[in-house]
Amino acid sequence: MVDRRPSSILISEAQLRTRVAEMAAQIRAEYPDNVHIIAVLKGAFMFMSDLVRHMDGSVSMDFMALSSYAKGTTRSGEVRLLKAVDTTLDGKDVLIVEDIVDTGLTLTYLQEILRARNPRTLRTACLLSKPSRRKVDVQVEFIGFTIEDQFVVGYGLDYRDRYRNLLRLWCRLAPPLQRTRAPRRACTGCRTAQGTHFTNVPPRWWLPLW
Ligand code: IMP
Repeated sequence: MVDRRPSSILISEAQLRTRVAEMAAQIRAEYPDNVHIIAVLKGAFMFMSDLVRHMDGSVSMDFMALSSYAKGTTRSGEVRLLKAVDTTLDGKDVLIVEDIVDTGLTLTYLQEILRARNPRTLRTACLLSKPSRRKVDVQVEFIGFTIEDQFVVGYGLDYRDRYRNLLRLWCRLAPPLQRTRAPRRACTGCRTAQGTHFTNVPPRWWLPLW
């Protein structure tokens, strides 16, 4: 399987900071008393922690973990519950906090199982949305950024569990250095019976930018 790495910035730290603060204010205005936030692990951990830091007053929190079967950047649409919520949702104003809505299958599944637990209200906040990829019509009340159909990493989002730590959102996952058409240079003093041995030498501008 080809490994890939992020190669260009889609959303900067400053843009994320500004938008997340705006979303927090919008959410607080909708829930002036209390809101029970349920963040979806692992992708939403950074978004959720920045979001609640911008919210004064009362907020309660819980976490759920789901796995949607994925092969690299493509997903099968099958969703499995790995961790359920710890407390009752009876009569609570619940806000799901998710990293990204892509096909919408994960959120549809999540909303169904949470609705069955009788919250007073149930709404959803997503940092990112890829509307062109939608397979089901899912309701998302708060959206941070609408993006094109491209795979993104950073700010909690991963590629094979890597890059969640990056502070900006990156896109355009480039093929690995050894698979790119790197200039081939003869190894010094490395002549074999088959002829000169060549090696791919990545130029300096291919080094990761973070
Ligand atoms: P959906 O069920 O297709 O809407 O997919 C939702 C889940 O897929 C998200 O919670 C992410 O974990 C993952 N996902 C979808 N697109 C991306 C992406 O561009 N980067 C990283 N993860 C993604």
